[in-house]
Amino acid sequence: MRNSLSISSDQAKMFFPIPRELDPIRMPQHLAIIMDGNGRWALGRGLPRIMGHKAGVEALKTTLRLCSDWGIGALTVYAFSTENWSRPGEEVNFLMSLFENVLQRELKSLKLEQVRINFIGDLSPLPNRLKELIQEATDSTSRNQGINFNVCTNYGGRRELVSAAQKLAEKCVQGDLKPDEIDENLFASELFTAGNVDPDLIIRTSGERRISNFLLWQLAYAEIHITDTLWPDFDATALTKALIDYQSRRRRFGGLESNNAEHYEI
Ligand code: FPP
Repeated sequence: MRNSLSISSDQAKMFFPIPRELDPIRMPQHLAIIMDGNGRWALGRGLPRIMGHKAGVEALKTTLRLCSDWGIGALTVYAFSTENWSRPGEEVNFLMSLFENVLQRELKSLKLEQVRINFIGDLSPLPNRLKELIQEATDSTSRNQGINFNVCTNYGGRRELVSAAQKLAEKCVQGDLKPDEIDENLFASELFTAGNVDPDLIIRTSGERRISNFLLWQLAYAEIHITDTLWPDFDATALTKALIDYQSRRRRFGGLESNNAEHYEI
């Protein structure tokens, strides 16, 4: 199935209103997505896996546009994990070229749409041309006022936590910090996502029910929505369903709902 709402650059200024089923006041501030199922989408059509990644880019453009138009402040997507290097070299090379091409092609629209793009992860082993494009895209959109778009690239949650611990340990060794001064806020300030609110909602496509080393710290209280939809088929209808699911949840953050609290008052 194609996206029912496919967004191309010639539609750059079209605005997509919030569906009536959704409460605009209770949109998540930050949405995280594990975009899974590109390979299966392609294989199901008798196509090479890489065609699934190409189609996945279109689903991502649609999702970014919808999130921006619907008032979601930040979108963080898992584009390439630290484990993805173990895929066949051809697929890894294709993905790296795809990231380069997309960045080159879409930078103008990102600027126009006021998107602030940021890449999260250890970018050092990426191809030089890609690193240059990432730098250019990050710098040239850093003052934009619209949605924060975080692309996790060579990202692994455990590695991020270890790196934060190392930075704090180094400060302690230098005498700039005492171990008992380390609290959750200070720890979070050493993560790649420093300055972002934690995701309120995590969506994983393709029916898998794993976190897969994604935003291990940041997802502590996120609501989880799993859909069988394969990522390239993820569209406005699928996003609306996920948001309806999110808005039906009662978020307690480990406490009690306010209308239950009275039962425990002394
Ligand atoms: C998972 O599907 C998808 C990926 C590893 C790549 C996702 C990347 C994109 C959609 C492109 C994003 C581009 C930019 C510039 C941000 P899979 O291959 O694991 O699918 P499978 O589980 O069916 O094999």
